[in-house]
Amino acid sequence: TPPEKFALRGDLLDFTAAPAWGEIDPGSALRFQPDHWLLVDERGRIQGTQAEAPDASWRQIDHSGRLILPGFIDTHVHAPQLDVIASYGAELLDWLNTYTFPAECRYADPAVARAGAERFLDALLAHGTTAAVVFATVHKVSAEALFEAAAQRGMRLITGKVLMDRNAPAALLDADVASAERDCVDLISRWHGVGRLAYAVTPRFAPTSTPAQLAMAGALCRADASLYMQTHVAENRAEVAWVSELFPDARSYLDVYAREGLLHPRAVLAHGVWLDDADRAVLKASGAQIAFSPSSNLFLGSGLFDWAAAAQAGVAVSVASDVGGGSSLSMQRNLLDGYKVQALAGQRMSAWAGLHAATRGAAEALGLVDEIGHFGAGTLADVCVWDWAVGPVATARAEVARGLHERVFAWMGLSDERNLHSAYVAGVPKYSRSSTA
Ligand code: GUN
Ligand code: ZN
Repeated sequence: TPPEKFALRGDLLDFTAAPAWGEIDPGSALRFQPDHWLLVDERGRIQGTQAEAPDASWRQIDHSGRLILPGFIDTHVHAPQLDVIASYGAELLDWLNTYTFPAECRYADPAVARAGAERFLDALLAHGTTAAVVFATVHKVSAEALFEAAAQRGMRLITGKVLMDRNAPAALLDADVASAERDCVDLISRWHGVGRLAYAVTPRFAPTSTPAQLAMAGALCRADASLYMQTHVAENRAEVAWVSELFPDARSYLDVYAREGLLHPRAVLAHGVWLDDADRAVLKASGAQIAFSPSSNLFLGSGLFDWAAAAQAGVAVSVASDVGGGSSLSMQRNLLDGYKVQALAGQRMSAWAGLHAATRGAAEALGLVDEIGHFGAGTLADVCVWDWAVGPVATARAEVARGLHERVFAWMGLSDERNLHSAYVAGVPKYSRSSTA
């Protein structure tokens, strides 16, 4: 189909800046434009927003009465772990051995990797997530399959082959440091910076990489500052204790990565539940971000991330599903879990703080704010159209909401992927509820 200009009508909500943490007055950071038009040009870029209907050169798509948001950005999720989502009864290290590692072994097979990548990216889109930072498996072909499937869909995707060379089944280990490096270099040369794809150097976590492999990962990052880095840090207490045995010279778990040059502005570290003030200062100074994964932290019994302390220290925090440790790809579900985690610490995560972190905040932390995360002119139209309420409970709740924050908070708390009407990627419709019903 030839590209054409179109305009979406609905209640437009996005952010122009970060709202103050823990306050329900968003100040000028929030841009709520009820019953406005979002104009998307023939290149799939946002031209602007306006109250009046555009002229007849724009195809008009009327979603009045619906909520229109920038596509969500999930900053930490494991593609192959959709196969083990909602697995019973284990903390992190048991869960890895019992469910996750066996599931990841299957991704050595290119056919499994390809089908898995397609199923995973289509699932992200069906949950309103249009961009993600994704773990593949150790197998080169699993990263390859994700890049190919994302390119077909036009999605912004950051991924990489997992690096692991100890403390896991042999089928999931790199043969040696040199072969792992060759795989990374080859994937980087073929995919990094191609279209909307970027490579993330991906040491799984400190326990499954030898110091030599971590040093290789750090050298890759130092050689090319445009590369991302993704890993896990300080998720679970038994894990933290194990890392201190494996790396007795490190001041902390985070320090294992810091010493190898793995912390930089394009580094995404999942969890960070068990960090201290010194770690937070190191994160702040490096520009690395924490991918807060509340559903996973609750599901695996890992602990309660202290977002307020991170915000206080100036650490960038995004929100992530961490499926399959997390039990839903829905960013609303994850945000509501995030709210509950903060509530247990006597803190309040506003709908603004949550939705900003899942859109513009993540884009800023990833260095992608010129491309995604908001409705600013010139950005790519990764846009989702949501029903404000599905079913009698959410409908009745919305009717009595007093004020905008209460209404949006109730939406965040009561909605999920069933509320998604349609998802656009760079101005191209990639998911529509009716077509898959
Ligand atoms: N730490 C190391 N690997 C993993 C993983 O796959 N999931 C989570 N949640 N934590 C990890
Ligand atoms: Zn994870």
